[in-house]
Amino acid sequence: MPKTRLGALNSLYPMPTTLVGAMVDGRPNFLAVAHVGIMDHTTVSLGLNKVHYTNAGIKENGTFSVNIPSMDLVEKTDYCGLVSGRNADKASLFDVFYGNLVTAPMIRECPVNMECRLVQALEFPKHDIFIGEVVETWCDDAVLEAGRPDPGKIRPLLFSMHDKRYYALGPVLAEAWSAGQSLKKTAD
Ligand SMILES: Cc1cc2nc3c(=O)[nH]c(=O)nc-3n(C[C@H](O)[C@H](O)[C@H](O)COP(=O)(O)O)c2cc1C
Repeated sequence: MPKTRLGALNSLYPMPTTLVGAMVDGRPNFLAVAHVGIMDHTTVSLGLNKVHYTNAGIKENGTFSVNIPSMDLVEKTDYCGLVSGRNADKASLFDVFYGNLVTAPMIRECPVNMECRLVQALEFPKHDIFIGEVVETWCDDAVLEAGRPDPGKIRPLLFSMHDKRYYALGPVLAEAWSAGQSLKKTAD
């Protein structure tokens, strides 16, 4: 199979689209963020371009939230990635609530919400990398399966930068830590 060189093209897409919340100038604000990462079981990372309005609020308060919108929130989510809180009150689109951290606004319409305490901020040339500890996760009962968030019920918006589109989650393919078991036995 021939391969084409694409240069240094980050190709980790699709990524779940999130709505990150923070208090900026004393008011809640949300922006769309797909450059989210799992650092460990209770630690997440965000890559936010330095031009964004939200960054100052995260730095000032040391808190933020990560909200996971469902497919039915595609229009509002995209809007939060199109306009800046400098020019619009994006929080007015949502029923905003607060948990343990009083400066981490969350979106009730999103089925999963994580409130995070900033543990480290890294300066990249064009981006602020925020690393946060999840202090509490809020989840709609309707998307729980055996007490755990069920991706099929959450119906996340999967974003690809390659074609700038949102994709839906597909069906379950296989069980993890299980699909490879037969190969393990033959190698033993
Ligand atoms: C689907 C989608 C994903 C995005 N992901 C990111 C991201 O990971 N990092 C980033 O800096 N901006 C991202 N953006 C752009 C910001 O959400 C957008 O510029 C927003 O208006 C900034 O809002 P603020 O100025 O209120 O902070 C994304 C936009 C969209 C539509």
